[in-house]
Amino acid sequence: MAIGAPAALRQNVPVPIPVILDVDTGVDDALALLFAASHPELDLVAVSCVAGNASLPLVVDNTLRVLHAVGADHVPVAAGAQRPLIEPARDAGHVHGGDGLAGIQLPPAERAAEPEVAVEFLRRTILAHPEPVTLVTLAPQTNIALLLRTYPEVTENIARVVFMGGAAGAGNATAVAEFNVWHDPEAAAIVLDSGVPLYMYGLDVFERVSVPQEVALELVASADPVSSLVGQLVNHRIRDRDGAESVYLGHIGDAGAVCSIVAPDALRTEHLPVRVELAGYGRGQTIVDRRQFPGEDLFHGLADGWVDVEVALEIDDERIANLFLDTVTKRR
Ligand code: BDR
Ligand code: CA
Repeated sequence: MAIGAPAALRQNVPVPIPVILDVDTGVDDALALLFAASHPELDLVAVSCVAGNASLPLVVDNTLRVLHAVGADHVPVAAGAQRPLIEPARDAGHVHGGDGLAGIQLPPAERAAEPEVAVEFLRRTILAHPEPVTLVTLAPQTNIALLLRTYPEVTENIARVVFMGGAAGAGNATAVAEFNVWHDPEAAAIVLDSGVPLYMYGLDVFERVSVPQEVALELVASADPVSSLVGQLVNHRIRDRDGAESVYLGHIGDAGAVCSIVAPDALRTEHLPVRVELAGYGRGQTIVDRRQFPGEDLFHGLADGWVDVEVALEIDDERIANLFLDTVTKRR
């Protein structure tokens, strides 16, 4: 070990990975924030907010409250886009409740968001960081598209974009489109086109990781406020189209994308060609080319628009669920 190496390296402690989260908090974004603020191998540098699961003011307020709950008031938070690039904002109240946090009451944070809007804040924060940051998008990618179009030079200090979005298989917002991409397909297409290494944590793995209900209920009753909050978030119910409460799902959702950064070997990934569909019923679909012999499009004049993405296809769900629970309930 070189003399003068950082103390963490001298003691064989992994140097934390600097991450910036872009969120639409959001029940499972809250779980992701709790994990990112708690894991010793992650340095949560900053958070930006965008309209998605709820309106922007609610997303900002929820994000500040969740960070306050986990003792992370030092992490700066900026407000970004109030709606997608083209479409009107459409929330996901049927999943996250009208307030975005399933009615869970958290004490207010004693601070406000940064005075800068997200695009300026992200530019400054990314470029000022001494090493490339991992940008984790857990929401419609409107903020990131605006950032890339305004300040493309930020890509020089982005290690990669890990995005929760899309699916190689079925969608959720529509039969083929996942909510984050469907909400702002043009933004997703701009991010795909950025030239930055991309890691897709889509519905194929997102929907696999859950916490058993008995564990969630134990957590709800915990004396530790963060553990109890985790239990309440995991235990929330979504409503079906008749307004009836659905069965227990217990998904950790967006938090799994952040877990994948510290436990990459718990996922099987493949580098595959991906594109975003922008028209018709398929609008918002991520088309993932899994053909055994890709390339026939060349003969049909349809070969443009594909981007190489590392796509997560399988996950050791038990390992990720345990990593998540251990981290958020036994915080450093
Ligand atoms: C995504 O949409 C939102 O409801 C969740 O927070 C997640 O980011 C899943 O499709
Ligand atoms: Ca989200």
